[in-house]
Amino acid sequence: MEDQYGRRLRYLRVSLTDRCNFRCVYCMPIHAQFYRLDEVLSDAELLLIIRAAASLGVEKIRLTGGEPTLRRNLPDLVRAIAQIPGIRDLSMTTNGVRLPRLARALKEAGLQRVNVSIDTLDEEKFRRLRIFGELCEVFAGLDAAQEAGLSPIKINCVVVRGVNDRQDVIDLAGLTYAHDWEVRFIEMMPFAEVAEFNQEKLVPTRESMACLESAYGPLEPVSVEGFDPARTYRLPGAQGLVGFISTVSEPFCARCGRLRLTADGKLRLCLLKDEEVDLMTPLRRGASFEDVQRIIYEGAYHKPWGHDLSIGVFPQQRVMSKIGG
Ligand code: 5AD
Ligand code: SF4
Repeated sequence: MEDQYGRRLRYLRVSLTDRCNFRCVYCMPIHAQFYRLDEVLSDAELLLIIRAAASLGVEKIRLTGGEPTLRRNLPDLVRAIAQIPGIRDLSMTTNGVRLPRLARALKEAGLQRVNVSIDTLDEEKFRRLRIFGELCEVFAGLDAAQEAGLSPIKINCVVVRGVNDRQDVIDLAGLTYAHDWEVRFIEMMPFAEVAEFNQEKLVPTRESMACLESAYGPLEPVSVEGFDPARTYRLPGAQGLVGFISTVSEPFCARCGRLRLTADGKLRLCLLKDEEVDLMTPLRRGASFEDVQRIIYEGAYHKPWGHDLSIGVFPQQRVMSKIGG
């Protein structure tokens, strides 16, 4: 499956729920409204869509949310996805809190690895960035992921000006000395209700890199296989890697091969554009596998070239938790 610009689309990010037990400030408005259960794709609907996408060349699936571990019967769903012909890479982005209970079952079901969001190692700042959750719970989740063999583990840190933009970046990157993890620093993107905050508090990658170089010395570039939006480096003498995702300051749209499926059954063509293709309505009106295949194929062709953040255009309809991070 290719889009009109010849980009091959092999990667589908699947949002399993828009609910979250953390509610980070850059991801959800404080008074977030959630979908009712019947507004969310059922397991059967979700599997049909993923099967159709896989038949069109999607090989890589990432489960996201909201918080994907809040989805009921997650290990069964993971097992079913892992068995779909053509899917060779299955990962999940999570806040980690439920991993102590779930990591082993998820690994056994076929989940390969996890990205865990942290942002800071300081309890007080952690609380400033989200309404619920404790840092120690996230670390318990990381231990569980490590023990279950959900590796390589990646840590996501969204850098927020005035909160975690200096010492926290240094401390989080420092984890790569003790652990074989990839710690990634993400530029905050603007979405709907949280756009203003996110634009004001954006920290460009070059600042985070300069901060690390002043603390640790020159970063050594490391190339990783395949296309990854993160540019990766190693701190002098470290085991793990640090990565930078510079969506705003250095867009990687030209190489983007991603599609997204929202929890309410829309195929989102670009994270930062509101264009979507409705799969839920046709499915509930009885669309067949072939119908869904055709809708995905034709919709994906129209994937927009890229975002227009540089001219002040950002998504109005959905925040990150309703898209799938
Ligand atoms: N900008 C950048 N990243 C974000 N995430 C959530 N909201 C934003 C945003 N506005 C990230 C989280 C998590 C993943 C699900 O998406 O940190 O790692
Ligand atoms: Fe929840 Fe992740 Fe969004 Fe934070 S970033 S509110 S943990 S979905």
